[in-house]
Amino acid sequence: MASATTEMDCCVGRTRPSSMGMEAAPAWAEVVRKGLARSPKQLPPWLFYDEAGSLLFERITSLPEYYLTRLERGILTASAGEMIAAAADGLRLRLVELGAGSADKTRLLLAAALAHQGRVSYHPVDVSQTALEAACQRIATELPGVDTAPIIADYTTGWGLPDDPEESERQLLLWIGSSIGNFEPEAATELLTRVNASMRQGDALLLGVDLAPAAGGKSEAELVAAYDDAAGVTAAFNRNLLARLNRELGAEFQPDEFVHRAVWNAADSRMEMHLESRTAQRVWIEALDLDVEFAAGERLHTENSYKYGLDGAAELMARAGFPVVDRWLDRNGWFAVMLGRKS
Ligand code: AVI
Repeated sequence: MASATTEMDCCVGRTRPSSMGMEAAPAWAEVVRKGLARSPKQLPPWLFYDEAGSLLFERITSLPEYYLTRLERGILTASAGEMIAAAADGLRLRLVELGAGSADKTRLLLAAALAHQGRVSYHPVDVSQTALEAACQRIATELPGVDTAPIIADYTTGWGLPDDPEESERQLLLWIGSSIGNFEPEAATELLTRVNASMRQGDALLLGVDLAPAAGGKSEAELVAAYDDAAGVTAAFNRNLLARLNRELGAEFQPDEFVHRAVWNAADSRMEMHLESRTAQRVWIEALDLDVEFAAGERLHTENSYKYGLDGAAELMARAGFPVVDRWLDRNGWFAVMLGRKS
């Protein structure tokens, strides 16, 4: 059990068995060690997505406060046909999706691509084999004209397509769901630049972007509510990170000893999520052979979700080699889907 105590030296000299019969630590254990050694402590947001975390995220996407998924789906429902026509620019398309997950909203684009060209190849890239299998099955049933060839890979570390597009085909890269927000802007630019280098002139990028609060747009309160919902699902999603460390690293966190905090950082234009220690406590992590100390009120930073202005998003896309050629917004200007083309 995690020890909630104000006497931080109570465990010094305590001996622990070096192994409690756990399986070998996962490769990401060292990422956790480094993140917890930082000041302030910080862990990368991809750690949220074990099976429980992915299910909690699915629940978040249908929360009333979490406008992102709803608005993006609305934009795609209204304009998928236009997006596909603009991206294709008279040619056939093949679609590649970064972090496809359940590919729920993507089906709107796939249906539009089928209407445009009869058949379409679709390469969803994701680390989760389970999510990809479910997505492929659903697509096969609902959209039989789609030839799905999934790629199980972490799209941040490189992956390859099984074949080159035909001469008469353009490639449309999908990065929707505002996933770009969970990357530092430099890392997002670098990722898109790398993918751009493997694409041909005329290929396109369709990017889903959650827009920063602005005069006449969403308020800061509405933005914060999206990351701190009344039903507590986002809090559970955030705390599941600690539960995951307990399950997979033999850690002894008591997740309820940490408060979910969602904070708007205006200076950096990002939503932040933290887990704030209620008390001074010391937590054992078996796989790291490590005791971690938290002061009362100390925060563990778990996620950044960057919000862009339209100009900022366009600049980032241009820097990565995809100057913007078109964009679609919801009627209140809270969310944008932007199309860039490799020139
Ligand atoms: C996956 N990603 C775009 C979500 C976001 O909004 O940053 C993750 C999330 N975090 C809290 N709620 C949803």
